Amino acid sequence: MRNFTLALLLLISGGCTQMPPQKTPETASVGSGQNQPAATATIPIPNRPQDPKMKKFIDDLMGKMTLEEKIGQLNLVSVGFTVTGPVVSENVDENITKGLVGGVFNTFTPIAVRKLQEKAITQSRLKIPLLFGYDVIHGHRTIFPMPIALAASWDMAAIERSARIAADEASADGLNWVFSPMVDIARDPRWGRIAEGAGEDTWLGSQVGKAMVRGYQGNDLAANNTVMACVKHFALYGAAEAGRDYNTTDMSERRMMEEYLPPYKAALDAGAGSVMSSFNDINGVAATGNRWLMTELLRNQWGFDGMVVTDYTAINELIPHGLGKNEYEVAKVALDAGIDMDMVGEVFLKHLGQLVKDKKVTEDQINVACRRILEAKYKLGLFEDPYRYANEQRAKETLLKKEYRDAARDIARRTMVLLKNQNQTLPLKKTASIALVGPLVKSQVDQLGNWNGAGDWKQAISVEQGIRNVAGAGVKITYAKGANIADDTLMLRRLNAHGGNIEVDPRSAEAMIREAVQVARRADVIVAVVGESQGMTGEASSRSDITLPGRQLDLLKALKATGKPLVVVLMNGRPLALKWESDNADAILETWFAGTEGGNAIADVLFGNYNPSGKITATFPQNVGQVPIYYNQKMTGRPYGGQQLDKYKSRYLDVPNDPLYPFGFGLSYTTFSISAPTLSTANLQPGGNMTVSVQVQNTGNYDGEEVVQLYVQDLVGTVSRPVKELKNFKKVFLKKGETQTVTFTLTENDLKFYDINMKYVAEPGDFIVYVGPNSRDVKSAPFTLTSSGAAAGNP
Ligand code: BGC
Repeated sequence: MRNFTLALLLLISGGCTQMPPQKTPETASVGSGQNQPAATATIPIPNRPQDPKMKKFIDDLMGKMTLEEKIGQLNLVSVGFTVTGPVVSENVDENITKGLVGGVFNTFTPIAVRKLQEKAITQSRLKIPLLFGYDVIHGHRTIFPMPIALAASWDMAAIERSARIAADEASADGLNWVFSPMVDIARDPRWGRIAEGAGEDTWLGSQVGKAMVRGYQGNDLAANNTVMACVKHFALYGAAEAGRDYNTTDMSERRMMEEYLPPYKAALDAGAGSVMSSFNDINGVAATGNRWLMTELLRNQWGFDGMVVTDYTAINELIPHGLGKNEYEVAKVALDAGIDMDMVGEVFLKHLGQLVKDKKVTEDQINVACRRILEAKYKLGLFEDPYRYANEQRAKETLLKKEYRDAARDIARRTMVLLKNQNQTLPLKKTASIALVGPLVKSQVDQLGNWNGAGDWKQAISVEQGIRNVAGAGVKITYAKGANIADDTLMLRRLNAHGGNIEVDPRSAEAMIREAVQVARRADVIVAVVGESQGMTGEASSRSDITLPGRQLDLLKALKATGKPLVVVLMNGRPLALKWESDNADAILETWFAGTEGGNAIADVLFGNYNPSGKITATFPQNVGQVPIYYNQKMTGRPYGGQQLDKYKSRYLDVPNDPLYPFGFGLSYTTFSISAPTLSTANLQPGGNMTVSVQVQNTGNYDGEEVVQLYVQDLVGTVSRPVKELKNFKKVFLKKGETQTVTFTLTENDLKFYDINMKYVAEPGDFIVYVGPNSRDVKSAPFTLTSSGAAAGNP
């Protein structure tokens, strides 16, 4: 999305155009309220020392502020263009000079930012600097692969580096706040926003969230090349019912605590300075008006002392959610819940003053929110130098520089997943003649994926360009489009209305397929570049049918019928249902939306300059009817054991229970063998640790990397436990023929979960540890957690 952002923003960069259109108690327990969970788990609150200098500075400043100015700090406006909601900010210039704006988003470039910042600094009474936020989701100007792709690299250093580069570019471009990472666990590929997160797994999602926060914020938030992270969307947004965006979420407390909430907590523990509320309701109470979530859990239990911003007009949306009749009422609901900053809706700005007068809310509540926002500004160093992030010279030297493009290419290669490679069809030979077919072959726009921020699609490398760059003179390339990306004219109109740039070929589907077949017949190998357009994933882009859209499958069938080797290169942002493709293609390479250097990275992999090492982090189903499908499910009382004629088992009549590709799956051009695990002890003592070792051998013909994954199963407990859970992994590089011992350490902590009383404990008893190249093809060893001293602890 937002490919037209840059043009619009550059247009306004010379002048700001207004678009019409703490407390920390020492311990706390999860309280109930509004029908929300009443967990009994107690979690000590981290003791964050208050910076006395900051406190004094803000005390002094707030001493001078009027109530109106304090409420002004709670107001976040969008300057640029309408983004994701029906409302746009008005009277921005005037409000800034009156001290009625705390932050701005959707504006960047040093000139545009400086212009607005100057207004606040020179024309407002107290000269309080503005925050400048933006959706920097997978890169700022240099665009990296979509987050779901980044996660598939299982390479935390690469993920952190992508965020570090994004922060360097964003901060050089005037920004000091990014609306990322999105750590929503998602198990429903119909939900378009699955592309924006790390996939289905809690533990892996937590590691990715932490790596991104480290990358954005570095060690010093006040440095001129770091930005404040915003953990979103708090909370449980990824569990929207039926995969339909903005839909309701209804979830047991156990599932929340164990599966969905830990990645937010992990990103906050990594130091993220802000949180964004989500659009959905949680068990009937919308997140933005949910006091249990925003205060009892986030503040009192987790001890978060940063600022909470709403999602786009989310306070206004409390009205259709049914939490209030009008803006006046929902302003109170949101403030009472614990929200600090109102994104675009201006509900706080319009109504908090009156609410104080009417004694419906207190000035103290507003003080708390205002202080958190001022603290964020202080930590970013904005009071010292409000123009710290608006330096034209730095922007010129930093944005899209070669080093960053090279990094984008390298990181993109690491995210690609080889799903199938029959008869070693890949890598391609540099002497082959290639029929390049498909609606995405030439697309630059789609390489960037959705939420491409300030990325310029004209800078993106298409698959065709990449192949020409990498293949060399020995390769003959012919091309046919073969199919349109979609045939549904309404969908095409919708996509193009939001920056899709999709050119529809007016020829009939049959004529296009005929031409492609002719081209294919004359080549040695077919490379079909198919999938989704970037706008088919992301916000408000749920799909109920997750097969290849339009006539692309018919195209593949016709290409297959030529008898030529068929390589399917996928570009998409979600797990797709690819049964026919999986059965019939010779090779399948999942490239996601790979970013600015996407085409080069894809060509590097296709021609073997890089040996693929990615693994999917969200299960690919056989068909959409299996959804939600994820690897760490619970055992049922009637598990299906594979006996076709068994009737009273948990199974479908028309499709197996197995996914098409399991979580953690991905091939390499080489092969690896992983031995059964050996344990340092079969009896883990509480408080002790054990090692789990495997021999990993590169048994094929290429050097390559393997992601060795460790899972644990708790066989008997006070509550049923998942069939396995990821607890660790190591990505190792092995030269061909090489063997390495990979060793993991397991402790009692790795075995903890919420027991029958919602206490976070490890229960003594029997476990199995599994190790393998994915969640399915594992080898196992049993062990026991012995009983002495198993005690409650912290997640
Ligand atoms: C999205 C957020 C985004 C915000 C600001 C919303 O519609 O849900 O993820 O950060 O818009 O652009």
